[in-house]
Amino acid sequence: MKQSVILIAAMLLMAACGSHSEEDHGTWSEPYASGDSAEMIERGAYLVTIGACHDCHSPKVMTPEGPQIDTARLLSGHPSQQPVADIPQDARQWVLFDMGLTAFVGPWGVSFSANLTPDETGIGNWSYEQFETAIRRGKAKGLETNRPLLPPMPWEMYRHFTDEDLRSIFAYLKSIKPVENAVPAPIPPNRLEAMR
Ligand code: HEC
Repeated sequence: MKQSVILIAAMLLMAACGSHSEEDHGTWSEPYASGDSAEMIERGAYLVTIGACHDCHSPKVMTPEGPQIDTARLLSGHPSQQPVADIPQDARQWVLFDMGLTAFVGPWGVSFSANLTPDETGIGNWSYEQFETAIRRGKAKGLETNRPLLPPMPWEMYRHFTDEDLRSIFAYLKSIKPVENAVPAPIPPNRLEAMR
């Protein structure tokens, strides 16, 4: 009797841990229509975590310890409602990140991190081939004829992911909660000058 109580307690504990780790990765409970295996999605979650995609692509909430990832809007890119903060006059020699690490000022103007969730304002309508073109060839929206992706998206490093890794990352991104957020277009350097 005593033994079975312990067993049940252990099982409950394991179940609780299981759902917790799922929450950590932000996995959506209803997988986005795809035949991707749980292992592939799990590996993609791991690669997105150690690949630091959240640093730039997940909005942050401010806490006394500084900016923390907003788990309600994982990987949804620069929030479209957020106004661009004033750009200091004397910062021309610098590359600047905004407080949420989702908007970036540099010689290229202002870039905004993209929405990587499976909403149609993100990668919801993307094929895997598009994702591969974006990461391996650095093309916006993964279309060969589009403009090059702007800094600081480190695609020149990520292009070395193996095919299996890239497919796993894509499977994970397709499995997370879709967030509607139409990220603003980048601001070119000449318009940036006018804003200073
Ligand atoms: C240092 C910041 C940074 C990191 C880290 C980062 N990104 Fe990006 N990413 C960006 C920015 C900024 C853009 C938008 C660039 C532009 O508009 O040209 C972008 C764009 C993209 C795009 C193209 C989206 C589109 O709509 O064209 C994809 C796909 C992407 N990132 C995936 C990833 C993945 C996957 C990771 C992690 C393995 C990652 N990024 C890590 C900053 C980053």
